[in-house]
Amino acid sequence: MLLGVNIDHIAVLREARKINDPNPLDAISICKLAGADQITIHLREDRRHIHDKDAEIICKLSPLPVNLECAIDEEIIDIVCDLKPMRATLVPEKREEVTTEGGLDLITNFDRIEKAVKKLHKNGIEVSLFIDPNKQMIEASSKLNVEWIELHTGSFANIYAMLYSNLANTHHTIKELELPRDELKKLLDKSKKEIKKAALKAQDLNLKVAAGHGLNYQNVTQITSIKAIEELNIGQSIIARSVFTGLEKAIKDLKELL
Ligand code: PXP
Repeated sequence: MLLGVNIDHIAVLREARKINDPNPLDAISICKLAGADQITIHLREDRRHIHDKDAEIICKLSPLPVNLECAIDEEIIDIVCDLKPMRATLVPEKREEVTTEGGLDLITNFDRIEKAVKKLHKNGIEVSLFIDPNKQMIEASSKLNVEWIELHTGSFANIYAMLYSNLANTHHTIKELELPRDELKKLLDKSKKEIKKAALKAQDLNLKVAAGHGLNYQNVTQITSIKAIEELNIGQSIIARSVFTGLEKAIKDLKELL
């Protein structure tokens, strides 16, 4: 299974002081050395971590293929078309969110997304859509003629964390936290089944399948068991571990689990 390492959180650390260090570009040769297959970055409309200059330099110099996540916003799509990463992943964006919450609504935004996909294709950029694992979204993805879909695993990861980590002591105020453990186990099983079903449906429609969000060293093997998924994009857990182990080891440890 392929691994895209999302390096946004290196820029998050830099932005804590608004200086030059650590520079996400410096991470890329380490990612390559450690066996990563792709670099993923998100150029957000609010530029809270990755800046235009980062995206420009990374797209120009990265020895690994770049997967650039962006919103369906005309100005951003034009920037992405100029940068020409290997792939653009279209994601929903809300300014107040801590991280990307939920997948794209391909039904309500069909025309806007279609326009963005056509523009990206015209510029030689392959397109992925970040969607929730459900049939309606997979069918709409197929109609949009994209190469890839990325299944949002955030909901699965949240349930996993509620079951197996001390999430009650974090900032989360998720109502499911009050559910009994056997209910949570059923929800986790349901969530995994939804991901698997969506991945198989996408495969049937000749879409390449990636997945990501909230995946970590504990929960990832539940997703790697789904053979229709070809690639995972993982960020926060790798960068968090790298603080203690170094980035190369953090990536190698994860690669071993794939
Ligand atoms: N895939 C997509 C589309 C994302 O938006 C993100 C978060 O930026 C990730 C993967 C990685 O998520 P995480 O940092 O939780 O591993």
